[in-house]
Amino acid sequence: MQNRILASELPEHLGQSVVVAGWLHRLRDMAKFGFAIVRDRSGLMQVVLTAEQLEQLKGLQVETVIKVTGEVVKKQSKPGGAGPGSAGDPSAYEVEIQATTLEILSPVRDVVPVEVNNDSVDVHLDTLLDNRVVTLRNPKQRAIFRVQAALVHGFRSFMEGQGFTEIFFPVLAGAASEGGAEFFRVEYYGREATLTQSAQLYKQITMGVYEGVYGVSYSFRAEKFATSRHLTEFNQLEFEVGFVDSMEDVMVYGESATRAMLGAVENECKTELALLGVTLPPLGERFPRIKLQEALEIYKEGTGIDETSEPDLSPAAEKWLSTVWAPKEHGTGFIFITHYPETKRPFYVALDPEDPSLTLSFDLIGFGSEIVSGGMRINRYDEQIERIKAKGLKPEEFEDYLMMHKYGIPPEGGWGMGLQRLTQNVLGLANIKEATLFPRDVQRLRP
Ligand code: 4AD
Ligand code: MG
Repeated sequence: MQNRILASELPEHLGQSVVVAGWLHRLRDMAKFGFAIVRDRSGLMQVVLTAEQLEQLKGLQVETVIKVTGEVVKKQSKPGGAGPGSAGDPSAYEVEIQATTLEILSPVRDVVPVEVNNDSVDVHLDTLLDNRVVTLRNPKQRAIFRVQAALVHGFRSFMEGQGFTEIFFPVLAGAASEGGAEFFRVEYYGREATLTQSAQLYKQITMGVYEGVYGVSYSFRAEKFATSRHLTEFNQLEFEVGFVDSMEDVMVYGESATRAMLGAVENECKTELALLGVTLPPLGERFPRIKLQEALEIYKEGTGIDETSEPDLSPAAEKWLSTVWAPKEHGTGFIFITHYPETKRPFYVALDPEDPSLTLSFDLIGFGSEIVSGGMRINRYDEQIERIKAKGLKPEEFEDYLMMHKYGIPPEGGWGMGLQRLTQNVLGLANIKEATLFPRDVQRLRP
């Protein structure tokens, strides 16, 4: 739209005639004149309307899309709504627009099913998601996905800065990578295909070429239960790097990327964070690295709950370690847990030469729960065949994958970070679905 300016740019145009456009967020009719709060992608603005212009809006509802031409003036009136202090709140601006012309670009005649012009959308999660098309318009809802975009932006710029190559992964595949029964089968021209559980095998294959790769993948898991942390479709920020000396190298990339990503949120999303009332989790000097067995001991000592004979951390232990113990002892909300037992990790993970019942693997627990899984991989052909067999799988089914081992890949490792999980934890959202634009779970396949 020619000459259009955004709400956030209004103060720079004081005294000038401007064109703005957006959604009618709120309307206050004072009979002889009125106030329209108009929302665009940058925030809210206040427009003073004449009686004739109010007449143009007769019978129309909020969310009507309008275009206004008018003069930017110093604010003369009390703002027509929107909670004080909220980002994009017109009261935060010193200016308003005296409309000269009003054009209706898309009239809305039906009342929206959920009010989106309040501070938050206070409805049940299912109602929020059923009506996502409109509830996303609420400034707080919108802010969540601006933060998510900044996280991805931070990830990409960090990886580009390292000189790594962005790659794109298939979603349809022949075999499952992460094992277990949690994969979807797809009818594929009379054959059976699966939806990728992770881009794992594909990113590893590229280690024969690029040495360092990253990408945003789609992962599918046929989870049996709906939980506050699991989706059936999610994104992973994938990373893989070759010629590493040890697992520590791989974790360093994980820590640096996380710092860069939160840095991007801090820089790019000040208004969004303020609007959501979120302070980012503390990063500290260095994320602690602790072996699983040791972490279980710390958990037992700190809480009296004995899970030391478990092969994994319980959700409660993850929560306590990352929100109580690590902040207190290390000034950070992030903690690497390493050396998970061989039985709990997929076939591609390297065994610990010092104790082959354990793996050279790690999880990064970030402010409440696991956000990353990663580790060293097996780069030798015979060893990989042996591991596949030991896991009760058939090497024939991994022929393409094994070709990389056969023809040479460097010692390598990598990790995958759950994007929606990270967004949930960084913003302290109760349910991962709040951090997912269009979530899919056992019950939900729309909108
Ligand atoms: O831990 P996961 O299953 O590991 C992998 O897929 C490996 N291929 C990663 C690697 O490079 N070694 O998944 C990685 C991350 C988890 O840490 C979690 O953040 C997220 O993806 N995740 C899920 N997010 C939402 N819903 C689910 N069902 C998820 N399962 C895993
Ligand atoms: Mg994991």
